[in-house]
Amino acid sequence: AQVPSPAQGVGPVYRPDGEKPTATVSKEVSYDNVHVLPQTPQLIALLTMIRDGRTARADFIFYSNRIIRLLVEEGLNHLPVVEQSIQTPVGRDYLGVKFEGKICGVSIMRAGEAMEQGLRDCCRSVRIGKILIQRDEETCMPKLFYDKLPEDIADRWVLLLDPMFATGGSATLAVEVLKERGVPEHRILFLNLIASPSGVAEFAERFPKLRVVTAFIDQGLDEKKYIVPGLGDFGDRYYTL
Ligand code: PRP
Ligand code: URA
Repeated sequence: AQVPSPAQGVGPVYRPDGEKPTATVSKEVSYDNVHVLPQTPQLIALLTMIRDGRTARADFIFYSNRIIRLLVEEGLNHLPVVEQSIQTPVGRDYLGVKFEGKICGVSIMRAGEAMEQGLRDCCRSVRIGKILIQRDEETCMPKLFYDKLPEDIADRWVLLLDPMFATGGSATLAVEVLKERGVPEHRILFLNLIASPSGVAEFAERFPKLRVVTAFIDQGLDEKKYIVPGLGDFGDRYYTL
């Protein structure tokens, strides 16, 4: 069978890197604490589904959940492990690893709650705290309404969850809350679907020990501080539209 060439626009490498539409290429940022998921054709196809304004809510939820699962799996790669010696059923010794330390999730409500199930699917009975932060629709400034966090959060690794990272104001406020509760910056991992280049750069500089795992860094922000090309209002599309 003939393998289609990239010039035909199909296949796993559908176009050479330099010829891809700009908006499908994640912006690069040069911070050691920012990790962008591998830009596979699968990921770009999933992102295309959720960016499409015609995608119905059920599909938006399904495809967002798939990306969230990829983010959680990658986030877990950043947790520390220690050596663990075991024996296999055929009597062989095997020197492997196990996770070290306790974890918890913290979702920034409302949109961040959409990421909780993906975390639960990977970490059975994981504890989850909540921080309710809403962006003011006029000023775009974040406002903190409420938080409820595990009592021993200062002893845990925290997976902070919010799909959208626009100005970075909401995530910054959430990190301040966690730091006030005694969580050291290096034990916070922020999992995010789409980031703006300015938001992620400011955040990475402000919190150099905190790690960000994101699926994609977009082109920028519009006049209403929405991410572009973005996907619109994540919370509305996941919960109410
Ligand atoms: C959205 C999003 C982030 C925030 C991102 O939430 O989920 O929390 O905006 O914007 P920022 O980086 O400029 O702060 P929003 O406040 O709209 O509430 P929602 O989760 O209820 O949709
Ligand atoms: N919140 C969203 O849901 N989307 C954006 O683009 C910005 C903030």
